[in-house]
Amino acid sequence: MNDATTTIDPELEVIFPPEAIARRLEELAQEIVKAKLENLLVVAILKGSFVFAADLIRAMHAAGLAPEVDFMTLSSYKKARISSGQVSILRDMDLDVRGRNVLVIDDVLDSGRTLAFAKDLLAARGATSIRTCVLLDKQLPRAVNLEPDYYAFLCPNEFVVGYGMDVAHRYRELPFVGRLVRH
Ligand code: IMP
Ligand code: MG
Repeated sequence: MNDATTTIDPELEVIFPPEAIARRLEELAQEIVKAKLENLLVVAILKGSFVFAADLIRAMHAAGLAPEVDFMTLSSYKKARISSGQVSILRDMDLDVRGRNVLVIDDVLDSGRTLAFAKDLLAARGATSIRTCVLLDKQLPRAVNLEPDYYAFLCPNEFVVGYGMDVAHRYRELPFVGRLVRH
């Protein structure tokens, strides 16, 4: 799509460039403001959402919000590109969610298992409300019944990398979302 990209890696094609992501995050933050969530706690699901979450919480600040932020590392994919179906907690969050309005942030909503697991866990721990926000919503039949409350972009059913997302630990540093092109 642009020269910088092809120089970085000829196997990558940009789907969502940095400017489009930044614009969309401003809109998302405005949507989140409208929900008027008191005492808001953001829980970012690591690792894949760390860049998205970092940008979104700053867009939320610009929109007048002051959420607390915590992190939880969940695993469903391991090194494979297909879901193992099982979600496990690799590192738990620190804060108590009891009585809090929680916004769970993840990178990709695919089968839905990761976010369903996170929602069930936070509900069992006593969160007052739980909303979900993903960068990319893959338009697939889900393994579980879950649609995001907020999403930045609908995503083609392809494996994507960049903007925090990896394949085998690579490409997280890229400022755009790209797809791998097979030659
Ligand atoms: P789900 O549990 O099947 O909804 O999968 C969601 C998780 O799988 C996300 O947290 C991502 O980390 C990962 N994932 C799904 N699709 C992709 C992709 O195309 N690229 C990178 N990670 C992905
Ligand atoms: Mg993830």
